[in-house]
Amino acid sequence: MKIAKKSVALILVLTLIFALFAISGCAAKEKLDVGIVLPTKDEPRWVQDEGRFTAALKEAGFTSEVLFSQGSSATEKTNVESLISKGVKVLIICPQDGDAAAAAADAAAKAGVKVISYDRLITSSENVNYYVTFDSIAVGAAQAQYLVDKAAGKTAAPLFLYAGASSDNNAFLFFEGAWNVLQPKIADGTFVIKNSSEAIALQDKATLTRDEMAKIIGQITTNWDFNEAKNKAEAHLTAAPATDKGDVFILAPNDGTARSIADTFAADKDVTSFVVTGQDAEKASVQYIIDGKQSMTVFKDVRSLVDDSIKMAVSILKGETPETTGSYNNKKVDVAAKQTQVIVVDQANVKAALIDSGYYAATDFTGLN
Ligand code: BGC
Repeated sequence: MKIAKKSVALILVLTLIFALFAISGCAAKEKLDVGIVLPTKDEPRWVQDEGRFTAALKEAGFTSEVLFSQGSSATEKTNVESLISKGVKVLIICPQDGDAAAAAADAAAKAGVKVISYDRLITSSENVNYYVTFDSIAVGAAQAQYLVDKAAGKTAAPLFLYAGASSDNNAFLFFEGAWNVLQPKIADGTFVIKNSSEAIALQDKATLTRDEMAKIIGQITTNWDFNEAKNKAEAHLTAAPATDKGDVFILAPNDGTARSIADTFAADKDVTSFVVTGQDAEKASVQYIIDGKQSMTVFKDVRSLVDDSIKMAVSILKGETPETTGSYNNKKVDVAAKQTQVIVVDQANVKAALIDSGYYAATDFTGLN
């Protein structure tokens, strides 16, 4: 009888321990507040976002998990499903492919999870709650303005155009911003386009429709891929006669592609000098700028974007309405958006903008004055 009582007590204690484990397990699960899905680990830009997110969310007292889609919309969907199953309340997604990510946003909505589109807009879905972004039209305009300023007084300067991936809505915004600034300078004879028959066919149009931009981007896309950018630049330089080279101007959409395009142009004996744009202020490109191998970059302070996303997530978690500054149409709905400004960086302000501001450490670079 005594033994039986003891075993009952033991069973009770064990059950209690199990129950406590189960409850704390559940609590731990529920504590995963925010899930973040980024496009790829293969570009420094997104690895930087990961680091800044993890640090900021930890400081804000949130549990979070960052997953990478590695260039695959299928992986992106699996990542989203996995985070939903872990109980996240808010998903911050930077889509690999804007349209393809609609399925992931729809799945989140079905599970009652709010979706913040991060940097790139998720298109063709009604279930994108908010958008946190840089002013992407301003990015393209800044790149183009840099080329225009450097070409002051020139006539018939050779212009080579490159763009991002057609599956990324930003590639359209960047190109739109650049075209708005470049087109008048093509029309007045400052620049002559050398590498795109589609752009030449539309060069008299000050404003392009999305379909017209799609034609040009389809031809000059780098797909955000260093190798594709390099191969394309090589093919263009092989096709161009020496008279189409000399002092050239290159619209390169971001830093990764800018470095490979710059290396390719630098290796061509008929290219005397080149001005090449970029964006992201990736460390490798900051070094290229210091070394005079890339002309400029557009600095997008990831800390602001991360902060804005977290503020938004916090408001959502508290059941409040997040602060927004405008909206972007995603082909289905107008998505309320919070937008952050960008800064042009070249040799003249690289130290002030990126080192003195505390964004990067001086020890990360050589040759800084
Ligand atoms: C981002 C850029 C990035 C590019 C390639 C764009 O959507 O805005 O910062 O360089 O994708 O990943």
